[in-house]
Amino acid sequence: MGIRFDSVTVAYDGNVVLDALDLRVEPGEVMALLGPSGSGKTTALRAVAGFVRPASGRVFLGDRDVTDLPPHRRGIGMVVQSYALFPHMRVQDNVAFGLKARRVAKAEIGPRVAEALEMTGMAGYARRYPRELSGGQQQRVAIARALAIRPDVLLLDEPLSALDARLRSGMLAELARLHRELPEVSILYVTHDQVEALTLADRIAVMDQARLKDCGTPQELYRTPRTEFTASFVGNANLLPVTVGDGGVSFAGGMLKVDTGGAAPGARATLCVRPHLVGLGSGPNQLTGTVAEIQWRGSTHRLYVDVDGHRIMADLRELKEPPVHGRPVTLHFAPEDATLLTAGVSGDG
Ligand SMILES: Nc1ncnc2c1ncn2[C@@H]1O[C@H](COP(=O)(O)OP(=O)(O)OP(=O)(O)O)[C@@H](O)[C@H]1O
Ligand SMILES: [Mg+2]
Repeated sequence: MGIRFDSVTVAYDGNVVLDALDLRVEPGEVMALLGPSGSGKTTALRAVAGFVRPASGRVFLGDRDVTDLPPHRRGIGMVVQSYALFPHMRVQDNVAFGLKARRVAKAEIGPRVAEALEMTGMAGYARRYPRELSGGQQQRVAIARALAIRPDVLLLDEPLSALDARLRSGMLAELARLHRELPEVSILYVTHDQVEALTLADRIAVMDQARLKDCGTPQELYRTPRTEFTASFVGNANLLPVTVGDGGVSFAGGMLKVDTGGAAPGARATLCVRPHLVGLGSGPNQLTGTVAEIQWRGSTHRLYVDVDGHRIMADLRELKEPPVHGRPVTLHFAPEDATLLTAGVSGDG
């Protein structure tokens, strides 16, 4: 079932922490809410769940306006960062909790709990207490508890942030599998980890300072970000301050050929070039500078090059002879690998 935010504003003591959010999650879609700490991600989730009341705007699940409904009548499963399992209850009772609260028939509770534990790979742990489980296992139980009520919508608030890196990547794959098994459930997934967002989401909504900054597929946001904020938050980016010219831009005293997309000549803009699309040696768009730093990162070398006071990053693969620190070096990039950003350029607030 889809989720729709219709100009949802949330304020605490007159402080707006979610500013007129318009966002639609399609039925069966995984939408990641990505943004820095304090940007309003959890608040948006709580507005859907019914734990916070919007100052204005409406929340829809499918075509039902749920803004005035209490949380337990919204058909939502929610998983929060800190598991929030009941410590004195066995796994099976934790998972049954939402079913009992919803007065599901006794005879149905057992099979539903078994099904949810099966889906999360926790069938063998039904009689354990939370303290007898690892962090990853506790999180699976929390997910099982959310799934047991057969929600139309699943809200996940940084569900993996308490896990170490290896467990996290395993759980990511598990979540992707769960989504394939429940293709009709819409998922709103809060994270500040771009890898999670890029891996799991059909679309990513980028939030900053209570506002939605950008929304698109991971590929769109990565390849053609609209704002500096998105460019730097979704992947790494070189952001060059440029001035729009005729058929290109001027930067550091030279001209670079790029698609200016109809930007007005003379306008200030930012050119986004991904570090892995910067090559070594001469080519179409050349930048000459001095090697400021070089880092070996296993599969790539990360080169920092100072070009006319601007530091450019280049991620280079399979370098037989890496450039030498302090020496001049020439970099290049293809015109089609650069994106000109005219919105949200530094300085226009
Ligand atoms: N109950 C509350 N009372 C007052 N202010 C609150 C309350 N809950 C959240 N806030 C404020 O609202 C803003 C947004 O908080 P929110 O929890 O939505 O951020 P977030 O994007 O989820 O951040 P994080 O990544 O750190 O979890 C913050 O400035 C926070 O201090
Ligand atoms: Mg949060």
